[in-house]
Formats: sequence, structure tokens, C-alpha cells
Amino acid sequence: MRLLRGVRDRRAPTRHPTLATVTPDGRPQARTIVLRAADKQAGSLDVHTDLHSAKVVELSAAPFASLHVWDASAHLQIRLEANVAILQGEDVAEIWARVPELSRLSYGGSPAPGQLISGALNYNKVPDPARFVVLRLSVQTIDVLHLGPSHRRARFDRCTNWAGAWLAP
Ligand SMILES: Cc1cc2nc3c(=O)[nH]c(=O)nc-3n(C[C@H](O)[C@H](O)[C@H](O)COP(=O)(O)O)c2cc1C
Repeated sequence: MRLLRGVRDRRAPTRHPTLATVTPDGRPQARTIVLRAADKQAGSLDVHTDLHSAKVVELSAAPFASLHVWDASAHLQIRLEANVAILQGEDVAEIWARVPELSRLSYGGSPAPGQLISGALNYNKVPDPARFVVLRLSVQTIDVLHLGPSHRRARFDRCTNWAGAWLAP
């Protein structure tokens, strides 16, 4: 599965999907993230982020996300719809323990991500386990589009136990 490869292989296109959410006033937001874990049995994907990032505020209000990958060499677009659980504290202590020292700098510090600062480097980064959040995406649908001599598009749904169906591209 290409998503599993994204977790292991830093160069895989599925390593850096785009995560889209909806703001509390109904506007779309999208940003690049790193795929940190994928559980094929559970149909879940993990993303790590800072508790004070805008996406956590957005997902607290509307716990749904879309994940997008364009794998150019495979001519494949993958779009996922997911319900998102925001995990933190004790629930993610074991995961935090495995986050490398340098990566921990992404979770903590001030001011919070997205706040205005007076100069480009006027912020500090201090690892803070209380700021470490795991977004656990429970995948509901997978929409795959393959571009070839004849385009093919298929959709897989959790509610039909991932039975696939062809869609007009
Ligand atoms: C290659 C790349 C990987 C990134 N990975 C993550 C990530 O795993 N988690 C994260 O919170 N932000 C990640 N970011 C930063 C986000 O794209 C975004 O700028 C930041 O999280 C703030 O987003 P927000 O204000 O919508 O919450 C990454 C950015 C790039 C360019």
C-alpha cells in the first residue's frame, strides 16, 4: 500500500500529503504534513502537530479532513476522507517517547504557530510534550484516479468493507 510506504520512505510521494480541513467559519484550509503512521487493519493514519496550530482549532470544531497525494511517477491521485481524533497527553506518551530530539522542537515554543512576529526569527522552539498532538485519521473513503491512455477512477468505502467501485473519471 502506497500510504504505508510514505511512513517508511522519506522520498515516497505519500510521505508528504496535503491535509485539508474546514475553518470554524466554513472556509477550506490545506497544508503539507508528514505521514507518521499507517495502520492498514484499522484503516487509520497518524499526523503529528502542535496543539496550538490552527488545524487543531479547526479539527476541534469540525473533526473531518481530506488528505491528498499526487504520485507523479505512478500517474496516481489519491484522495481520502477521514474522521479525525485529536490525541494528546497520556494517550500519546509512548509515541512522544519515540519522537527524535530534533523533531520534538516542532511541538512547543512561543509564540504559537501562525501568530504575528516582529521579525522572521523572533520565535523560540522548546520541546513540550503537553503541546504534542497526534491527529488520528480514521479513513472513511479512498478515491483513486489513475491517468493513463484511458483514465481509471475507483472509490473504496469503509462502510462496504472497502469493496471497490469504478467511477467515471
Ligand atoms: C514538507 C513539509 C512537511 C510538514 N509537516 C508537518 C507536519 O507533519 N505537521 C505539522 O503540523 N506541520 C507540518 N508542516 C507545516 C504545515 O504545512 C503548516 O505550515 C503548519 O502546520 C501550520 O499549519 P496550520 O496553521 O494550518 O495549522 C510541514 C510543512 C512542510 C513544507
